[in-house]
Amino acid sequence: MNKKAIITSALPYSNGEIHLGHVASTYLPADVTTRFLKQNGVEAYYICASDDFGTPILIQSEKEGKTPEEYVAHWNKRDLEDFTAFDIAFDFFYKTSSEENIEFVQDVFKKLQDNDHIYENEIIQFFCENDKKFLPDRFVKGICPYCKAEDQYSDLCEKCGRVPEEIENPHCSICGQTPVKKSTNHYFFKLKNFSEPLLDYLNNAPYLQKDVKKYVENWIKEGLVDWDITRDISWGVPIPIEGLDNKVFYGWFDNHLAYISSSIKFLNDKGIDGKSFWNDADIYHFIGKDIVYHHYLFLPAMRLGINKEFKLPDYIPTRGHLTLESKKISKSRNWYIGLKEFLEIFPADYLRFYLISINPYSQDDLNFDWDQFATKINSELIGNLGNLVNRALGFTNKAFDGILPVPEDFDEKDSESEKRITSFADDISKLMIDNQLDRALKQIMEFSAHFNQYFQHKEPWKKGPGTSSCIYLSVNAVRSLAIAIHSFLPKASQQIWEQIGMNGDVSETNWNEMSEISLKPNHKIGKVEPLFAKIESSVIDEQKAKLGD
Ligand code: MF3
Ligand code: ZN
Repeated sequence: MNKKAIITSALPYSNGEIHLGHVASTYLPADVTTRFLKQNGVEAYYICASDDFGTPILIQSEKEGKTPEEYVAHWNKRDLEDFTAFDIAFDFFYKTSSEENIEFVQDVFKKLQDNDHIYENEIIQFFCENDKKFLPDRFVKGICPYCKAEDQYSDLCEKCGRVPEEIENPHCSICGQTPVKKSTNHYFFKLKNFSEPLLDYLNNAPYLQKDVKKYVENWIKEGLVDWDITRDISWGVPIPIEGLDNKVFYGWFDNHLAYISSSIKFLNDKGIDGKSFWNDADIYHFIGKDIVYHHYLFLPAMRLGINKEFKLPDYIPTRGHLTLESKKISKSRNWYIGLKEFLEIFPADYLRFYLISINPYSQDDLNFDWDQFATKINSELIGNLGNLVNRALGFTNKAFDGILPVPEDFDEKDSESEKRITSFADDISKLMIDNQLDRALKQIMEFSAHFNQYFQHKEPWKKGPGTSSCIYLSVNAVRSLAIAIHSFLPKASQQIWEQIGMNGDVSETNWNEMSEISLKPNHKIGKVEPLFAKIESSVIDEQKAKLGD
């Protein structure tokens, strides 16, 4: 394992609240991975930022009568609050509109220019004579030429999902007038130049998902097109060329560079040489499958274009979309659950447990189902894990005054259980390293189920022979579980840690220590309390009733 790592997750647009779909595919898997790496002694930093620039944000700020700066500052703060409530532990949360990023983006552009990867070209764009504005992307609405849906943006039809070549019956989304066409000079990035180096990169990146690599390779073989990186609006990173008014970089030119600029800022402020750290570290970019193109093509091509001054990603863990009760999430149709609202009703650990358990390491979509959520929490998290913790510790209190007894000679069942503990770390490490977080969590639950059965089989309440061995091993298993679940369920993990009478923060205990039987006879356990409360079906019914019209 590399001893350094930088982990990022797709930067959230400063344009609305975080919902369950965001955290399922990106922020939660990245958080679990970072915590796991830290537990293994890796110097790992989880870096994120708000994605502040672009046309939709400018339009929305204008609608709300705010400056774009005010508008994005609001969402930057709010997003971080929501993530924090969900125990997403960024080491640093910054913004694409930071001074550092603006300077870095301009610098990268100049280097790309020096390396002959940029050219200027005249293009025809819609222009509104009423607003005296060029109208890129979302500033133009009209009829989709493919499916004839009305009132669609010129850069994306939300009905059929296609990008219209030319929208029909175009009108300005600010004032509604019909725009004219006008020529303007734009800058292009020669993405075409990078077909070979990109194929090379993909071939030599062993940790990228195979299925994603395959379709990205097909895109490359079908032929890449050069990329227009300019927008004629006022909100973005200014293009560092004299005399260009009202031209900025396209948001996808600058946003991923904030992975680097934010990391460097954070590391330098800590007194670490940011650039060398970046280049020595394993680089992870967690994303959802809708932005594969940007992360497997634009992002590496731009790093290649500046002579790999900053290392290309080693891992781009890509996951599918979350549907809600088997339907597409949609804010306008009220088919949607905000993260903040969810966490006002249920503990963060419930959502973390559920989302990880339904989330494979693949492009397959996953589905949030209220009934399944309640069942998983009640029967697995509470019925299995919560139950083991409570009975093992509760019985130690009741029968042994909270003092761990001296074990007797082990019988076969004891030895089998002892072995479960000593091989526990190895059993799940491989899955965690391979990003199979759902399967790792499943194994952890199987470990817990084993000890429930063992406890049941030994019937310690009868106080027969073997009782003290059973308690000794079961309480040690609970300690192992606390370490194993830390990355998944940080709150529950710490509570268990305290209930077994440990001091300090469980996150500071090394991952491999879960395989040690380190609680010795005479250890005094702490105060035992139920970890979780059952979800009542009436609460689930209330939640379901909130969805839809
Ligand atoms: N804001 C973008 C989205 O939500 C993601 C940006 S990720 C970055 O789709 F790489 F560009 F930063
Ligand atoms: Zn207009």
